Amino acid sequence: MIRQSLAATLAAALAASAASAAEPATDAEIARGKYLVGIMDCSACHTPGTFLGKPDFSRYLGGSDVGFAIPGLGYFWGANLTPDEVTGLGTWSQAEIVTALRTGERPDGRVLAPAMPWMSYAALTDEDAYAVAAFLKSLPPLRNDAEVAPVGWNETPSAPYQPVVFPEVAAAP
Ligand code: HEC
Repeated sequence: MIRQSLAATLAAALAASAASAAEPATDAEIARGKYLVGIMDCSACHTPGTFLGKPDFSRYLGGSDVGFAIPGLGYFWGANLTPDEVTGLGTWSQAEIVTALRTGERPDGRVLAPAMPWMSYAALTDEDAYAVAAFLKSLPPLRNDAEVAPVGWNETPSAPYQPVVFPEVAAAP
C-alpha cells in the first residue's frame, strides 16, 4: 500500500517535471517571442481594429473583427491568440501552438486557411517557434465574446470580411 502510493507520487512528480521540461519559459525566451511576434506581424490579423485603421492595443491579439473571404473555401477571422480558456488558446499546449504555426494543423485536426500564413512560418526553427508560443502563453487572457467562427463559402458570414475581388480586365488584343 505504502509502496503503491509512493510509486504514484513518484509518477506524478516525474510527469510534472517532464511537462515543465517540455515547456520552459524563461524571460529571455518570452522576450525573443515578443520580438518575433512583432516582426512577423501577428497583430495585423489578430488584433481588433487593425483593418479598420485603428488597432485596439488594449485587446492586443484578442481576435480580429474583420476576416478574410477566400473564394471557394470560406470566411476566416484571425483568432484570439491570448490564453483565454474559452475563446483563446488557453487549453492549447505550447507544442500544439507550434504545430499550428508551422503546419497549419489545429489540435482538432482542422487545417487553417492559407489566410493564416503558416506556410511561411513552416521555416521557423524549434527555438523560435517555441519562443512565439511562450510569448503568447505569457499574455493576459482576454475573453472575446465577439469572436467569429469560420464559415464555409456557401454560408452567410455574420461579421465584416475583406473580399478578394477579381477586376474585369479587357481581354488582351
Ligand atoms: C495575414 C493574416 C495573418 C497573420 C499575419 C497571422 N495570422 Fe494567425 N490566423 C489568421 C487567420 C485568418 C486565422 C484563422 C484561420 C482559420 O480559422 O482557418 C488564423 C489562425 C491562427 C491560429 C489558430 C487559432 C485557432 O484558434 O484556430 C494561430 C495559433 C495563429 N493564427 C497564430 C498566429 C501567429 C502566432 C502569428 C504571427 C507569428 C499569426 N497567426 C499571423 C491570419 C493571420
